[in-house]
Amino acid sequence: MAIQDKIKELLDKRELAKLGGGQKRIDSQHKKGKLTARERIDLLLDEGSFEEFDMFVTHRCNNFNLEKETYMSDGVVTGFGTIDGRLVYVFSQDFTVFGGSLSETFAQKICKVMDMAMKVGAPLIGINDSGGARIQEGVTSLAGYAEIFQRNIMASGVIPQISAIFGPCAGGAVYSPALTDFIMMTKKNSYMFVTGPKVVKTVTGEIVTDEELGGAMVHGTKSGVNHFVAEDEQEGILLIRKLLSYLPQNNLEDPPLAPCDDPIDRLEDFLNEIVPENPNKPYDVKDVIHAIVDYNEFFEVQRHFAPNIVIGYARFNGMPVGIVANQPNYLAGVLDINASRKAARFVRFCDAFNIPLVTLVDVPGFLPGTTQEYGGIIIHGAKLLYAYGEATVPKVTVTLRKSYGGAHDVMSSKQLRGDINYAWPSAEIAVMGPKGAIEVLYQKDLKEMTDETLKAAFIAEKEKEYKDKFANPYQAAKYGYIDDVIEPRNTRFRIIKAIQMLATKKDTNPPKKHSNLPL
Ligand code: HXC
Repeated sequence: MAIQDKIKELLDKRELAKLGGGQKRIDSQHKKGKLTARERIDLLLDEGSFEEFDMFVTHRCNNFNLEKETYMSDGVVTGFGTIDGRLVYVFSQDFTVFGGSLSETFAQKICKVMDMAMKVGAPLIGINDSGGARIQEGVTSLAGYAEIFQRNIMASGVIPQISAIFGPCAGGAVYSPALTDFIMMTKKNSYMFVTGPKVVKTVTGEIVTDEELGGAMVHGTKSGVNHFVAEDEQEGILLIRKLLSYLPQNNLEDPPLAPCDDPIDRLEDFLNEIVPENPNKPYDVKDVIHAIVDYNEFFEVQRHFAPNIVIGYARFNGMPVGIVANQPNYLAGVLDINASRKAARFVRFCDAFNIPLVTLVDVPGFLPGTTQEYGGIIIHGAKLLYAYGEATVPKVTVTLRKSYGGAHDVMSSKQLRGDINYAWPSAEIAVMGPKGAIEVLYQKDLKEMTDETLKAAFIAEKEKEYKDKFANPYQAAKYGYIDDVIEPRNTRFRIIKAIQMLATKKDTNPPKKHSNLPL
């Protein structure tokens, strides 16, 4: 064969591979409002940057006459490219080939890019759209999943791993995304569950739809399994690109500095007034976050889940940070099981990837009650405590208002190796709130009082006494637990100075095989 013919053969093969399972199935994918595996990669990566591997791979299965049906690429498109000029590895499952189901060779392709991402030290993005294990292959498919899981585990804390769910993701297949750092789902067409509606009906009698069982909003609001809910694939892909702009390539690098013209000493006068005089009145902590970060840009993570705590990324003078903030606007910012789980995982991710933590505190305590206790608030609350105490990245904390009891200790307190702990003049750092304290301290006196007016006056007087003594930042500042009491409008400047000062901070944990955090 002449070389021209050989080149033509190559180009023809490439064209065929690009068709995946064929035009009919591509059309059906489009009809569902979904992009194809390759279209998704093209959107995700910088234009023209994609380099594909293993286009000519086909499956090796002879069961059920499958040898008569082979497709080049075998249902997953893999390779590398760049996002904003930075290297990433990708795999994108192709639903047009056997419903994106995972075969032995399919798994090998994914493992190849995972191994390379680990060796080179660059993020891995997996786009999931699959009917699960390729039924015709049997156990080799199960083994393929386990090979991927093992690599997800080894890569955890070494390179950022991001999963997009743009179609079905069911059965054991959910566990690869679950082992990664971030899960993105689209409102339409994506679902994740361990067992589908049919099995659920057989086993429990419960009748649910795919969406009710494992749709994006279910995992966004109820389970907390996903981190981002996108309107559509286009928005989802943009969010992934944005997320990566805050992250380093691997655990040995610092997060990327961005240019910043936003003045570091920008005063925000309204912050002096934002905390209401009445301690029971809420305000929106996101107003505080937006006011203090570069260009008012806050990239929120898990926006719909446990809104009593807010987590996400922002920059201070160009330096990416992870922000954790109690949200007085929802359940008074109380720490409950979900809020603790949510923030703990975030803190650990930031620590693993050298992203400084900025914590804004306004927390009345842990949520009381049987639901929380039976659900294990002790263990889940301990997760957040553990995460902060274990973290060695720069930790800057600002107490805006309440910081009571155990929750005070948990929220990046000085004794959990908080580096810089500031407080606003409105801060109240105490064992508990005035009301609860008076009820405990004076229960005998209150029991004996029969005259309600006298009782109310007594309570008011004691509450004032308690507040004057404890409901302020100066008790904590007296002991050096608070490094300074700062003017709210100057918070941006003070945080930036603290982060700059801590840039070369080094801290370590004792050598160990691994920790035994309260899972
Ligand atoms: C082989 C599969 C497949 C699978 C789908 N297909 N799933 N082929 N193995 N697991 C094929 C279909 O035969 C069909 O082929 C094409 O993909 C598209 O599928 P449709 O059913 O037409 O698409 P749709 O109506 O959109 O439904 C999608 C679906 C459904 C909900 C995913 O296909 C489905 O329920 N599939 C089976 C899912 C499943 O039970 N998987 C195993 C789970 S157990 P043609 O030729 O018609 O285009 C598992 C264990 C993992 O995954 C363990 C890990 C540890």
